Amino acid sequence: MMSIQISPDSVDLAHKVAEHLIALCQQAVRDKGLFTLALAGGSTPKAAYQLLASPGYASQVTWPKVQIFWGDERCVPPNNPESNYRMVRETLLDHIPIPAANIHRMEAELDPSEAARRYEDTLLGVLKNPPRFDLILLGMGTDGHTASLFPGTPALDENSRWVVANFVPKQSSWRLTLTPGTINLAQNIAFIVAGEPKAAPLQQVINGKYLPEIYPSQLVKPQLGHLTWFVDKPAAKLLES
Ligand code: 6PG
Repeated sequence: MMSIQISPDSVDLAHKVAEHLIALCQQAVRDKGLFTLALAGGSTPKAAYQLLASPGYASQVTWPKVQIFWGDERCVPPNNPESNYRMVRETLLDHIPIPAANIHRMEAELDPSEAARRYEDTLLGVLKNPPRFDLILLGMGTDGHTASLFPGTPALDENSRWVVANFVPKQSSWRLTLTPGTINLAQNIAFIVAGEPKAAPLQQVINGKYLPEIYPSQLVKPQLGHLTWFVDKPAAKLLES
């Protein structure tokens, strides 16, 4: 199932994403006493993470019941300005009462293949087999990538691993990423997309021909779960009504 929520601006977008996450968290904690969440990197989710850390929102979450993961990571040390872990720590984790044991960082300072294999063990330890997240947050690049599933890269065709190292030629850098299969196992997936530069790729991804090698975000098709696109008006301007 898929739905699209269009916000008038990026502030409303951040509120909608934070409220969606809280609602899913409260439901999961009621149902099973646990909420497993994989966070997106990049810049768009920052405002939502900062909102989540604010008293009005943070007080609605039973943080000790939340297990936090990442959907992808740049292969840099955790204190590097490029690190998705650092971004989430600064915007959210440093401001909420979550036990350190509930924070599952991708060890991106290690050899990429080793780090990917270790993260699969981490997933097994908390989510069991197969790793079905309660919610995976995703961003989308202007090239249609999501997580670290970039156009034309080997990770797009991975169909047995849960986490892989993926070399991104256009950035001459290694990344770690959940694979499409892991993402599509999730109960809930939420894209957060903002800004006019994303309008053309968003239209292609949602309404265009299925070309996942070119628009990897098209690979995101939850097997049983729900996919929600949270987009702001500028990013949604080319979407057919
Ligand atoms: C990353 C992200 C990546 C991001 C998109 C969108 O490591 O950069 O996981 O997939 O979500 O590139 O990034 P922006 O939100 O900065 O546009």
